Amino acid sequence: MKSLINKYNVPGPRYTSYPTVPYWNTQNFDPSKWLNNLNKNFKISNSTDGISVYIHLPYCESLCTFCGCHKYITKRHEVESPYIDAVLKEWLMYLKHFDEKPIIKELHLGGGTPTFFAPNELKRLIEGIFQYANKHHNIDLSFEGHPNNTTELHLKTLFDLGFKRVSFGVQDYDEKVQKAIHRIQSYEKVKEVTYIARNLGYTSISHDIIYGLPFQTSKSIHDTILKTAELAPDRISFYSYAHVPWIKGNGQRGFKDDDLPKDDEKRKLYEYGRTLLEQNDYFEVGMDHFAKESDALYLSFKSGSLHRNFMGYTPLKTKVMIGLGASSISDCDNAFAQNEKNVKKYLDLIENDQIPVVKGHILNDKDLVIRHTILNIICKFKTDLSSISAVFKIKDIENRLREMINDELVIVDDNQLIVTEKGKAFVRNICMVFDEYLINDKPETQIFSMTI
Ligand SMILES: C[S@@+](CC[C@H](N)C(=O)[O-])C[C@H]1O[C@@H](n2cnc3c(N)ncnc32)[C@H](O)[C@@H]1O
Ligand code: SF4
Repeated sequence: MKSLINKYNVPGPRYTSYPTVPYWNTQNFDPSKWLNNLNKNFKISNSTDGISVYIHLPYCESLCTFCGCHKYITKRHEVESPYIDAVLKEWLMYLKHFDEKPIIKELHLGGGTPTFFAPNELKRLIEGIFQYANKHHNIDLSFEGHPNNTTELHLKTLFDLGFKRVSFGVQDYDEKVQKAIHRIQSYEKVKEVTYIARNLGYTSISHDIIYGLPFQTSKSIHDTILKTAELAPDRISFYSYAHVPWIKGNGQRGFKDDDLPKDDEKRKLYEYGRTLLEQNDYFEVGMDHFAKESDALYLSFKSGSLHRNFMGYTPLKTKVMIGLGASSISDCDNAFAQNEKNVKKYLDLIENDQIPVVKGHILNDKDLVIRHTILNIICKFKTDLSSISAVFKIKDIENRLREMINDELVIVDDNQLIVTEKGKAFVRNICMVFDEYLINDKPETQIFSMTI
């Protein structure tokens, strides 16, 4: 395994989209093109599956030094109300373009820290969104809660509004690791919010754990996973630490590179964690995600209907996802669009009645075929290669896969590509074989985190 890790541990995308954001054709894009594509697909999506909405709430009170999310650190809570006003105004801008009321099937509050906002502000936000939208009969409402500032009132208010799913950021319980990542958070606090959520009736509680953080050892992974298993969340995200200091600036430099477990050492933490999770009845569903047999994510993985979008893995697929708030990404199947990342600039654009989309990509036929292939690999660990014959010569793809076939990471038989158990660790590398943009235009400097 060690030599395979040395061989395949290269910078590579996580494929929350294809093409990946650095390769979007931004020159050939403007907000009107995005809105035209969205309108066409909105009609189809709304009348069949409904649509998804992602709302980015960027504020956090304190900076965690590992964090790769778009966030703005402040203790000034007076920012809450104008930000909610801006998101609701952005929603109204979209509604002007639609002939019918959106039917929302999935809505997720992400961040930053959604629970930075007071419960009454979150209530105003959700009620404002649904003032002009209907709920799909199978709606899934979820949010990310920081255990240190999620209160019973947050959980109760959101539950009463229909939220049944919550994920809590845990990362690691070890004191030394917590100090290095500037995130002091006790087991008791996580236990308290988990129990409150469960007692209120939340049906899917998730905990985020990261491997590859500074000073992590197999002992800290062992303790963190066993403590987590004691609290029995329905899902566990077991993320690989993405070290991307060149994007996030000095914010991540709360520790030295030497303090990080690397390559083989990091992979061992994952293998060890995965074994412990499996011993505690969690099943691996897609990359970095585990779920109990009873959870909807596991059921959709088993039935082959698991989907992945900018919010992560989901059992629900809609053709259209509208992202509201600073840095949010929207997707209407054949086009992506991203909002202004800078919170102040985002607020200014909204103030000036401008749709805050600043970049995006319209997918051509080839992009769509590759996108579909990558989604299959990442969600089902297999794909039918005959579907790509319109854009690739199968022989060329087999040649590109040759080394991975020899290393027993994939099996190609009768036009079916199947990722082996051994290959699951290298799923990002397998997707890279189909990534035409990356192959034709290799970045000169590192823009992606390492694949392992
Ligand atoms: C927006 S945060 C969660 C909500 C809340 N802000 C909190 O920290 O509890 C989403 C999750 O992304 C993951 N994350 C953030 N930065 C990461 C990185 N550099 N590598 C891997 N996972 C990361 C963490 O597990 C985190 O819980
Ligand atoms: S991990 Fe969560 S709380 Fe910490 S800085 Fe990132 S978004 Fe904010």
